[in-house]
Amino acid sequence: MTIAAVADFRARAERRLPKFVFDYMDGGAGAEAGIRRNEAAFDALELKPRMLVNVEQRDLSTTFLGRKWAAPFGTAPIGLGNLIWPHAEETIARACVAANLPYSLSTPACTTLERIAEIAGKNAWFQLYVGRAEEMVAGLVERADAAGYDVMLVTIDVPVAPRRHRDIRNNFSVPFRFSPRVLYELATHPEWSLRTLAAGRPRFANMERYATVKRYQNVTAYMSSQVTGRFDWNDLKKLRKRWKRKLVVKGLLAAEDAKRARALGCDGIVISNHGGRQLSSLPAPIDVLPEIRAAVGPAFPLILDSGVRSGESIVKALAAGADFVLVGRAMMYAVAALGAAGPKTAIDLLVDEASRTLAQIGYTDIASLKAAAPIVRRERK
Ligand SMILES: Cc1cc2nc3c(=O)[nH]c(=O)nc-3n(C[C@H](O)[C@H](O)[C@H](O)COP(=O)(O)O)c2cc1C
Repeated sequence: MTIAAVADFRARAERRLPKFVFDYMDGGAGAEAGIRRNEAAFDALELKPRMLVNVEQRDLSTTFLGRKWAAPFGTAPIGLGNLIWPHAEETIARACVAANLPYSLSTPACTTLERIAEIAGKNAWFQLYVGRAEEMVAGLVERADAAGYDVMLVTIDVPVAPRRHRDIRNNFSVPFRFSPRVLYELATHPEWSLRTLAAGRPRFANMERYATVKRYQNVTAYMSSQVTGRFDWNDLKKLRKRWKRKLVVKGLLAAEDAKRARALGCDGIVISNHGGRQLSSLPAPIDVLPEIRAAVGPAFPLILDSGVRSGESIVKALAAGADFVLVGRAMMYAVAALGAAGPKTAIDLLVDEASRTLAQIGYTDIASLKAAAPIVRRERK
């Protein structure tokens, strides 16, 4: 099939996945105004073009968090990645290694952090959720350290489990409840069903050893039971002491919080609203990025995610003050659409779009793009 854009991955993913799986990946909090806002905020921005520049040779590489990457983006952490497509986590991790981009493994992933470290080495970042069980948090931090991870993203924007209308209506749970509707979806999406059957049930590979629940009890309910609204600045400070390598706070949206994270010794933040999955009324990260950049100064590492669907959006994020970008759904749509070929196809597409965008506006590398910051926010009546 011909892929013109990330929207084509999404359309094909929707056909190939059972509805409850597609909705888990694609959906968001409430009636999903947050998802629409994230994408609309990118669309509303313009790039100021400079012409008559020799842009024949272009270089997207960038140095970030102590390493040189081939392009200024990586894969965001996605829980239950292998539910979306069997072996998705390993497949994406391998594609990121081949392309020299970072891959973030989620705490509620289906692959162990040790296995991803074996596959992806220093291209792997680990994303930590601080759950209720202290034994689990301590264990995950220790294991990430032992496995050699250099970068830990600690996600702090889930103080409560969200209300995602699609998941609630679908009665989404893992393992699935075999209702007539679920059975119908499995029967009408045989490739996903047979491959999932062959690969084994998706499970929380990093967490199940700490769970007090038995292996095949409802793991989604167990996850919700682990969500605690208790984690605060004091706990972040303790985590900062405990984790000696790079610590990046994922899920901040306020300039005051960004400054506080910097003051506490964090190595960077991800400006994120979790892809619109926690609350529909949060600001789009791309809209708050300029005020956060102004508050933390030019040197503090800022990553942006939420709503990135093209290389053009990646260039806009950098022009607006980000150092790096994470893509969530765009990568998952691709792996669901094309299986093993998906991640490389998605990376090539995003790199090609970003490179053409740079050329079209008159830049040849990331440093000169960031220095010029050619972003325009035009007031429209
Ligand atoms: C299906 C799905 C699962 C996710 N799971 C996690 C997770 O386990 N941990 C986390 O920090 N963020 C998680 N996120 C949020 C992403 O890391 C990222 O912030 C978000 O997808 C960015 O928005 P985008 O999908 O519009 O690119 C998840 C997102 C999706 C779509």
